[in-house]
Amino acid sequence: MAGAAATNIDLSGATYCILTGASQGIGRAIAAELAKHLGPKSLMLLLARNKDQLAKTAELCKSANIKIVYESMDLAKATAPEMLNVIYSSLEGYKITDFANCVIFHNVGSLGNLSVETERMENLEEMRQYYDLNVFNVITLNTQFLKVFEEVEDRVIIVNVTSLCAIKPMSGMASYCSGKAAREMYFKVLAEEKKHIRVLNYSPGPVETSMIDYVLAETVNTNLRDVFLSFKSQGALLKPEITAKKCLKVLQEGKFSPGGHVDYFDDE
Ligand SMILES: NC(=O)c1ccc[n+]([C@@H]2O[C@H](COP(=O)([O-])OP(=O)(O)OC[C@H]3O[C@@H](n4cnc5c(N)ncnc54)[C@H](OP(=O)(O)O)[C@@H]3O)[C@@H](O)[C@H]2O)c1
Repeated sequence: MAGAAATNIDLSGATYCILTGASQGIGRAIAAELAKHLGPKSLMLLLARNKDQLAKTAELCKSANIKIVYESMDLAKATAPEMLNVIYSSLEGYKITDFANCVIFHNVGSLGNLSVETERMENLEEMRQYYDLNVFNVITLNTQFLKVFEEVEDRVIIVNVTSLCAIKPMSGMASYCSGKAAREMYFKVLAEEKKHIRVLNYSPGPVETSMIDYVLAETVNTNLRDVFLSFKSQGALLKPEITAKKCLKVLQEGKFSPGGHVDYFDDE
């Protein structure tokens, strides 16, 4: 675990928050947990493609204190101006100085094509699409966020939902592992440069979401299949709500070094 360094993070003031991949799974659970902690006059922007499911997440977050807005956006294809626009639209009627904290959770993620063995990867277009969603557009969205909140940069908090796969190779998941590693390192470099921005790389552990079913349905790697089957049969998968609670606890306690990788199991 990253060394304990900094002060706690108080989310009880008015907080602006973007959460990607908010239509299901871990993202939905983080949104619901976050809503319990945010102070009056907070504003949450939920992003993913499926608008009906985003509406369900928004319903779960409903609170008299905070405003929830959501927008359907394909984050594999969205351009920088479209991202900037969705952020500015959500802020209509607000000033950026209204917020004590400006938070972004980069939770969006996908697994890529698990039906091609690592030594047979050669479809550049497919690899590019994978990196567009999981790395390049995460960086691009983060840049738009930083542009909007440049004036109050010392209030910015960034959470990247990472994985053990960012630091430990997992057979059959070359795109996922390399993408998570690249994405995590980008946030580490940013944290190194911007010491006044709080940056957390949170690894949620193995969680019962559609990602697990996707692995079992798609993988051609027997080792990977066995690992995930044993997670399932031993009841080792975490509920999204449990890891979301831990994520918020880690964030609020603030005991992570700049860009630190903190895993669900680090102090369990
Ligand atoms: N589940 C695990 O065991 C586990 C373990 C470690 C890390 N993680 C990480 O946790 C994060 C969430 O994973 P999860 O398990 O909750 O997965 P999930 O249930 O598959 O959710 C993925 C989310 O990403 C959104 N998304 C996917 N493609 C998108 C696109 N092109 N544009 C916009 N949004 C898109 C999905 O929404 P739409 O389909 O509506 O667009 C959905 O809300 C990921 O970063 C994942 O790598 C998961």
